[in-house]
Amino acid sequence: MNRDKDFGTPQSSLQGKARVNLTIDGIAVEVPEGTSIMRAAAESGISIPKLCATDSLKAFGSCRLCLVEIDGRQDMPASCSTPVAAGMAVHTQTERLARVRRGVMELYISDHPLDCLTCAANGDCELQDMAGEVGLREVRYGFEGDNHLGLETDNSNPYFAFDPSKCIVCSRCVRACDEVQGTFALTIAGRGFGSQVSTGSGTDFLHSECVSCGACVQACPTATLIEKSVIEHGQPEHSVITTCAYCGVGCTFRAEMKGDQLVRMLPHKGGQANHGHSCIKGRFAFGYATHPDRVLKPLIREQTGDAWREVGWDEAIGFAARRFRAIQEKYGRKSIGGLASSRCTNEEVWVVQKLVRAAFKNNNVDNCARVCHSPTGFGLNQTLGTSAGTQHFDSVLESDVIMVVGSNPSDAHPVFAAQMKRRLREGARLIVVDPRDIELVRSPHIQARYHLQLLPGTNVAMINALAHVIVTEGLVDEQYVAKRCEPDSFSAWCEFVRRPENSPEAVAKITGVDARLIRASARLYAEGPRSAIYYGLGVTEHSQGSTMVMGLANLAMSTGNIGFAGTGINPMRGQNNVQGSCDMGSFPHQLPGYRPVDDDDVRATFEAAWQVELDNEPGLRIPNMFDAALAGEYRGMYIQGEDVAQSDPNTKHVEAALSVMECVVVQDLFLNETSRYAHVFLPGTTSLEKDGTFTNAERRIGRVRPVMSPRTGMAEWEVTQALANAMGYPMHYACAAEIMDEIAALTPAFSGVSFGLLDAVGSVQWPCNDQAPLGTQVMHVDHFVRGKGKFILTEFVPTDERTSQRFPLILTTGRILPQYNVGAQTRRTANSIWAPEDVLEMHPHDAEMRGIGEGDLVALGSRKGETTLHATLTERVPPGVVYTTFHHPETGANVVTTEFSDWATECPEYKVTAVQVAPASRRTEWQRRLHGEHPALSRSD
Ligand code: SF4
Ligand code: SF4
Ligand code: SF4
Ligand code: FES
Repeated sequence: MNRDKDFGTPQSSLQGKARVNLTIDGIAVEVPEGTSIMRAAAESGISIPKLCATDSLKAFGSCRLCLVEIDGRQDMPASCSTPVAAGMAVHTQTERLARVRRGVMELYISDHPLDCLTCAANGDCELQDMAGEVGLREVRYGFEGDNHLGLETDNSNPYFAFDPSKCIVCSRCVRACDEVQGTFALTIAGRGFGSQVSTGSGTDFLHSECVSCGACVQACPTATLIEKSVIEHGQPEHSVITTCAYCGVGCTFRAEMKGDQLVRMLPHKGGQANHGHSCIKGRFAFGYATHPDRVLKPLIREQTGDAWREVGWDEAIGFAARRFRAIQEKYGRKSIGGLASSRCTNEEVWVVQKLVRAAFKNNNVDNCARVCHSPTGFGLNQTLGTSAGTQHFDSVLESDVIMVVGSNPSDAHPVFAAQMKRRLREGARLIVVDPRDIELVRSPHIQARYHLQLLPGTNVAMINALAHVIVTEGLVDEQYVAKRCEPDSFSAWCEFVRRPENSPEAVAKITGVDARLIRASARLYAEGPRSAIYYGLGVTEHSQGSTMVMGLANLAMSTGNIGFAGTGINPMRGQNNVQGSCDMGSFPHQLPGYRPVDDDDVRATFEAAWQVELDNEPGLRIPNMFDAALAGEYRGMYIQGEDVAQSDPNTKHVEAALSVMECVVVQDLFLNETSRYAHVFLPGTTSLEKDGTFTNAERRIGRVRPVMSPRTGMAEWEVTQALANAMGYPMHYACAAEIMDEIAALTPAFSGVSFGLLDAVGSVQWPCNDQAPLGTQVMHVDHFVRGKGKFILTEFVPTDERTSQRFPLILTTGRILPQYNVGAQTRRTANSIWAPEDVLEMHPHDAEMRGIGEGDLVALGSRKGETTLHATLTERVPPGVVYTTFHHPETGANVVTTEFSDWATECPEYKVTAVQVAPASRRTEWQRRLHGEHPALSRSD
């Protein structure tokens, strides 16, 4: 089976510097200065035995198996920790080396269970391989003396086992946890013969600091740390390289299979976003794909109160098309629409927006970016000229100052967080702007220089204060601004931010943050020299989300921090394909590539290609669709891969709108909250069944390859295509690659993209075209995409959502590492062991005033609704602020969130809701009904 080659030690950090010539076993070798002898040998196809070395970790030099002889030296240095030198003549195979290596291996094996034939790692064990490679044939020592063979296995983690009787104490696991993941959960306890791998807390894995990223399991050369799925199914036989279906990091994995059984997901070293690392979700949480709750056959029903009826694809699609056509005949062409999904591939999204435009003949298409990153598209487009992040992930490794605003990468983008932490441990300085004391503020070997713990809803006041310091203290990069930005907009902006009301001292009263901290942070950011901004939904999901995005862009431009590695402004996208679904034009006002629907020339291009007349008026956004439904004008919806009844704000309003529709078609993996209001349920496919591409947060287009054929019998784009045909618009793609060819033909930033290119080079970042045939890592290099960068005034306007005597606390929401969005996938995996329910974080002071103790059931009420959940008391949130997640339908956190939204894009203001919290004795009526009627439990087919 294909496995990623292990070169033993990482590439030299001096790539591109001087090269060194030497010979290894008589073969002439040339490598960059700083390369280890082991790596130089491996790159030349010469294998040196090793156990403690692996190329994802720094050399450690403990096992002494990799010794070599060098002409002119008496000793036998370890090749993993010895760098090459010019003229060196290295010998890797001599009689003397063989004797020493056999001796070393003999000692290891003398304290190792001899159960290779029944061991789950048989065939994938470096200890076994090395015993063979050094020619060990017998072990002279018996097991009579002290040994470790009786040590008990720790099975507490649901995904991997730890059997210390097989441990050779090579420390690879400990170093992986430190160097790659940065969690520092493991240690070597004891000394000498008593040395053992242990969790830092001395507990089992489940109750330790471990976040189940799997790096230690991957690093372990023996069966000591091993996936339980390998124990259960045996060694995989073949593999497929594909992209993670969860967050916007877009990690590449090698899906390892035995027949059609997925045995494990191994992060792929060649993955340009993750470089062989992963988090718990992508690595282990794939069991939902074969969960018994999966719906695999189409379902229809006349009325939403009726039982579902299982039917064939033709009947379901015919039923949906007839209803949609009838609605259009009765209420008009614009009375139906569709939602594309940021969980689906670019190709699937493309076909959905084309269905709406060409078959429904309107622009009523939107996607779930509406409720997360639509302000990013708007704000970055206005200031810089393009709706995407400016950098590649690796850029962070060159940053001197990192400012994280409203983003919690440790939970939401864990693999990128691990990379950022590496840079922070190397000495980059960190500014965190967040109401919560997120993990990044203080984590092993990392301490934020400044944490601006502002009140939710005051971002824009804060960005203006930071800008005030930069302008009034002479910290502007005048040369950069003069060369690259619009002078008039810059002057107006300077005049605006200079105003006294934007000074840190004035803003301190609004944000609750000491003016001195604001001043110091602004100076640090401006000082750089390379300063980067990473931001998340804590920026966008506000009534001034777009304003804040523009404020961040202003700050970066004014200090000259866009256009080269280590800098930039980078939105951390939530779902796997949020970037792609936006790029693909699933917006009511934009055709693919962010081009306005009312641009006659652009429309003409699509009309010629699609042979259909297109509507020149923007369609409805998601919230407008619900409003129009309640107004009686909008009556049918095709919803692919989005559970609006759980994820969108003000659940009751959404439910009311869905309940008056005459045809709701839901396409998803599982029956969900939205499908309670559906008339047609079309089973969807998991990413393991998809063929296509995802575009991650750094604009990287990566291949999603089918690991198994669609369990439903149809690819999702085929279903959408069949619906288009049934609606009377002919669509005849033969495969996903053909769809990408059409995307490339009609979308300038994608014009060089094809499955062939991606298969050849792995992945590319758009723009990928004639000017950049292999894609673009850093955008806006010599000039901004819009020409000159434009400063935009960002006046702070407080949200209309105000605290009051009745609702004195502010609720803000977010995510937790083991769960993903509405939890449809992760709740159906063992990840729920770590996060079985949404809990309310509350400051002990606020709790005490209300007579609330740790773990109490509390009622969380807002002007919109009420729910109950358990409270946890923590100083992670400041007094006056409470926090929860929205992963569990039983909690329905969005029952309380409001309809206030970003002024420009209508992105909901999830991050600010005035609430009250009180002790509760029982669940709300709504929750009891939901528990009783939960669709997963009540499917009657
Ligand atoms: S799974 Fe990850 S976090 Fe847990 S011990 Fe291993 S490396 Fe550390
Ligand atoms: S658990 Fe595995 S990686 Fe860790 S020290 Fe033991 S053998 Fe090495
Ligand atoms: S970081 Fe994101 S993309 Fe990577 S494995 Fe985790 S969930 Fe998947
Ligand atoms: S591999 Fe070099 S000392 Fe272990």
